[in-house]
Amino acid sequence: MSGVTISAKAKLNLSLDVLGPRGDGFHELRMVMQSCTLADEVRVEAAPAGAFCARTNRSYIPTGDKNVAVKAARAYYAALGVPGGAEITITKRIPVCAGLGGGSSDAAAVLRALNELNGGALDEEALYAAALEAGSDVPFCLMGGTALAEGRGEALTPLPALPECEVVICMPGFSCSTPELFKRIDARRSRCHPDTAGLLSALGSGDLRGVARRMYNVFEDVLEKRAAMAVNEIKMLLLDNGALGAAMSGSGSAVFGLFDSAEKAARACAAAKGVCREVFLARTG
Ligand code: C5P
Repeated sequence: MSGVTISAKAKLNLSLDVLGPRGDGFHELRMVMQSCTLADEVRVEAAPAGAFCARTNRSYIPTGDKNVAVKAARAYYAALGVPGGAEITITKRIPVCAGLGGGSSDAAAVLRALNELNGGALDEEALYAAALEAGSDVPFCLMGGTALAEGRGEALTPLPALPECEVVICMPGFSCSTPELFKRIDARRSRCHPDTAGLLSALGSGDLRGVARRMYNVFEDVLEKRAAMAVNEIKMLLLDNGALGAAMSGSGSAVFGLFDSAEKAARACAAAKGVCREVFLARTG
């Protein structure tokens, strides 16, 4: 059967700020997002109407409606207004529950693939609406590049591209619960915030060092002690090995550093392998 294969890139948070709860179960966010070359491979084939399934090379990932890729496929056909089905095969390379938007990116790839299989029947606006139905980070993954994400994460403003650079992505040996981190943020009376305006201005002038210096994720401030120590240890290791900046991505636990030299990135990657469960070398873009 004919199918479409698409590469689904990971997202990195150059910054992540939580402005406050919204009263609809979500929080108002302000994030600078960046896509990178660490990617899953997503293949989508047409299936009989009503048949939706996502298989992956990770046995613990749900194959049915709990999988955000399946949600996206259902949202696609609901928007199209015709019965449809999809057989989705995902080769996971992006670590799961890592703050790297792997599931969201798979969902965005499913939307692109289904639209290709259906001759481009949905326009960008309709695809974007289906993306938001699948999850808050899916619209960014659909767009990619460098963007400011506000609201739930869906109000996107494209930004000047971050000057291309190397990224080292490290997985510490713990995972974080996203709702729990939001709860802890809500319980804080005073909090620090990223210098988002400064970051946007550095992006505007193509100043990679200026961007890297302002990388900041407020979730790092509410991690449990042991998790915070692990994140800090990795950040120090990356910085000691030449990273221009380092931060946790999303609700973690992936920690990444930006490098302006492939040599330094390779050295940092080797050093991190001694400390982390998994380490990836990628590029922005
Ligand atoms: O939209 P998504 O399924 O990715 O959100 C997962 C959970 O993360 C939400 O149910 C909510 O608890 C939290 N969240 C939030 N505010 C956002 C995005 C996510 O509180 N802007």
